[in-house]
Amino acid sequence: WSTTARKVDGVLEVGGVALTDLVAEHGSPAYVLDEADFRARAAAFNTAFADYDVYYAGKAFLCTTVARWVIEEGLFLDICSGGELAVAERAGVPAERIGFHGNNKSVAELTRAVELGVGRIIVDSFHEIERLAQIVSAGSTSGARMTARVLIRVTAGVEAHTHEYIATAHEDQKFGFSISSGDALEAARQITAIEGLELLGLHSHIGSQIFDSAGFEVAARRVLALHAQISDEVGVVMPEMDLGGGFGIAYTTQDDPSDPAQLAIELTKIVTEECKARDLAVPRLSIEPGRAIVGPAMCTVYEVGTVKAVELDAGAVRTYVSVDGGMSDNIRTALYDADYSATLASRASDAPVLLSRVVGMHCEAGDIVVKDEFLPGDLVPGDLIAVPGTGAYCRSMASNYNHALRPPVIAVAAGATSVVIRRETVDDLLRLDAGAAASMGD
Ligand code: LLP
Repeated sequence: WSTTARKVDGVLEVGGVALTDLVAEHGSPAYVLDEADFRARAAAFNTAFADYDVYYAGKAFLCTTVARWVIEEGLFLDICSGGELAVAERAGVPAERIGFHGNNKSVAELTRAVELGVGRIIVDSFHEIERLAQIVSAGSTSGARMTARVLIRVTAGVEAHTHEYIATAHEDQKFGFSISSGDALEAARQITAIEGLELLGLHSHIGSQIFDSAGFEVAARRVLALHAQISDEVGVVMPEMDLGGGFGIAYTTQDDPSDPAQLAIELTKIVTEECKARDLAVPRLSIEPGRAIVGPAMCTVYEVGTVKAVELDAGAVRTYVSVDGGMSDNIRTALYDADYSATLASRASDAPVLLSRVVGMHCEAGDIVVKDEFLPGDLVPGDLIAVPGTGAYCRSMASNYNHALRPPVIAVAAGATSVVIRRETVDDLLRLDAGAAASMGD
């Protein structure tokens, strides 16, 4: 839960706003974003990683309001698509505070980033180096001198202990230049030979929702070894190094994430010692947390529509609580087998709890929001259920499956609400449907 969440007579309040009032005004389902909590987590990362640049990973959740909060709190912004770049531009994020990721950025996206003077482009393939070389040289011949500041995304060969789909530093996956094959070193040679490309440093991201800090430490050592090798063999001392994001958060009481502040101390120690041992200047470090900042700052509120008791094999019973959202607003349970919790948010209840499953309104059995939760046995249609920790990768991965309308994001602060993303309407859906303008029979 976000830090301002509390129950008053059974009614959940976030940011001083009762969720019953929020739903009365803005409808259900809704993502509820606790502004104070978001800002506090962003600021805490900046304090814990005081000597680092902290890039908020917008892929976890991005809109213009959040982009502005990020900059106001003194952070930088990590984006990974032209769409996210457009949000950053519209929010007025200074280009030099942006880092641009992606394993397959288009020529148009790269060109826009170079024109804007994006602070750093994290290159991920030899093709991208070629593309960037063409963009800067084409720009230069047309008059304006163009440069692109780049980091090399490397694969540190670390097996991060997380879900296979979100682990990114083992060899057999699509991201980065392998250190062990020599590709990363070759990338450094190529980049430094191209006029208009400035090599800032190396970048490593080992995965997401990671609890064990050992993976970060091993990756940091491997990246440093390459950093030193590039200094020796290519003759370039790079001024920066980025150790990526991936700091895990607690989704249920069973989760026990490590403390980012402690990790900051460890990583700084490793980098400082290894650089000293090799007689190298210590590069400016940066990190890219997404989930750990926005994840706990949001919850989703749903309205219960139906309640059904289903007998299980051993005579046990599971209560299926169907809500007015589902896998279209939170795909993580279905996709990653993620665990969430839920609570009755609209009233107090003394009823004994029952083993329950919170499910959505979509046309498939895998449409589960919360796999197992003990909820009061007297739930009825109209009750509100809140699911905490939905800030990261829920709205940003939301879909219109079954023509569901994506819920709004309502920010709460000091007892007031404000709409930061409005609820989709049927008109929004039909606007993209080229045949919708002509009604049948026209
Ligand atoms: N930096 C890079 C280069 C990344 O690829 C990512 C996440 C991050 C930073 C931020 O990681 P975070 O601190 O948020 O863990 N959809 C998945 C997560 C995908 C993560 C992709 N990259 C999920 O819902 O768990």
